Amino acid sequence: PASTTLLPHGGLAVGGVSLTEIAERFDTPAYVLDEGEVRGRCRTYREAFPDAEVLYAAKAFLSRAMVRWMQEEGLGLDVCSAGELELAVTAGFPPERIVLHGNAKSPRDIATALRLGVGRIVIDSPSEIARIAAAVGPHGHQSVMVRVVPGVSAGGHDKIRTDTDDQKFGLSLADGGARHAIAKILSQPQLELTGLHCHIGSQITEVKPYLTALRRMVGLMAHIRDAHGTALPELDMGGGHGIAYRPGEPALDLTLLARQLRTELIESCAAAGLTVPRLVIEPGRAIAGPAGVALYRVLTVKHTGERVFVAVDGGMSDNPRPALYGARYAPRLLGRHSTAECRTATVVGRHCEAGDILAADVDLPGDIHPGDLLAVPVAGAYQLSMASGYNMVGRPPVIAVHEGAARVLVRRETLDDFRSRDIGR
Ligand code: LLP
Repeated sequence: PASTTLLPHGGLAVGGVSLTEIAERFDTPAYVLDEGEVRGRCRTYREAFPDAEVLYAAKAFLSRAMVRWMQEEGLGLDVCSAGELELAVTAGFPPERIVLHGNAKSPRDIATALRLGVGRIVIDSPSEIARIAAAVGPHGHQSVMVRVVPGVSAGGHDKIRTDTDDQKFGLSLADGGARHAIAKILSQPQLELTGLHCHIGSQITEVKPYLTALRRMVGLMAHIRDAHGTALPELDMGGGHGIAYRPGEPALDLTLLARQLRTELIESCAAAGLTVPRLVIEPGRAIAGPAGVALYRVLTVKHTGERVFVAVDGGMSDNPRPALYGARYAPRLLGRHSTAECRTATVVGRHCEAGDILAADVDLPGDIHPGDLLAVPVAGAYQLSMASGYNMVGRPPVIAVHEGAARVLVRRETLDDFRSRDIGR
């Protein structure tokens, strides 16, 4: 991440605070979040997309401080549960700048959205239309969008692909499902269709799939205008902007994306005779990911013929991404300078299964030993938000660093937290 500074003797500082000192003060495992980096990424988005509405996808990582930073940086929020929504609104976020997603919204999700006055609800399936209309009531009003599957292939891993019709999200452009749902929504007086939405995948590093999707979405907008005489004011192109997890890996070029999306939008709208809708985007990973660093302490080191297994005090309960998606990271030794030759090591967690691997086949100094600290950069997105209580290890704390000071945003999960939910006997 950009704000990382190398310190003497193998130290590393983030946000002006030594990571070794954080590990000592707050214990490990711990997640460090660089406030300046998060805010800087928000500003990069606002500058690259000055005419667009930028919604932070809260699923990447959410806390009350994060909510406040997003508000102060002028972003909106994309949430996908009553939980994320309540947290954001109780932390003071204006509900009209929140969009609610979800392929299977519960009655509570819908009721909470209506009670708190959420800006838009994104309709994901035909059956939702009647449910939302009924919840709004005959005299109420709710702005909605429709999630469309434009059928564009993009993105990192099979488990985060949303491009084909053969997955659970959205209404198909190809088989007419989207058109049918749109006609139904337009016939509900209490629902106001403000725009179309698509999210073509995640960890996408190329601009082209976004442009293809955008053309198809504009085509559907033109159809809606022709069939219903309705010009939709918004086009939400979702998130999915890819980042580099290891040095040398490609990331999506945001300036290029912004410029080409804008040109494509203006040109394809002109060709279709449409007024240019306002663009909405929903980045999650690209805002939170590079701003986070995970800190672990080495507990055991096992040498086999092939490689060294370096076991740390966290693992798949705080970062399930390697096990789920084969995600790769670049851990590094922290807090001491080693002159030992590097060896191929596999960094594993402390959980009771062999697949609990944090980083396979990485180069680490051959003299790595119990007590050493490891830092795993680019750990801010989809790690703690997907963390579990496996083996009752407890989820790590989140420590914010900013301008030389560290403070706890989310405290460590304790045995008392586990006990307090266990109320039977
Ligand atoms: N908008 C919608 C409707 C989404 O479903 C998502 C992510 C986003 C925006 C934000 O996407 P991003 O910019 O963060 O890629 N757990 C997986 C990623 C799942 C993404 C789910 N939806 C991972 O760790 O790679």
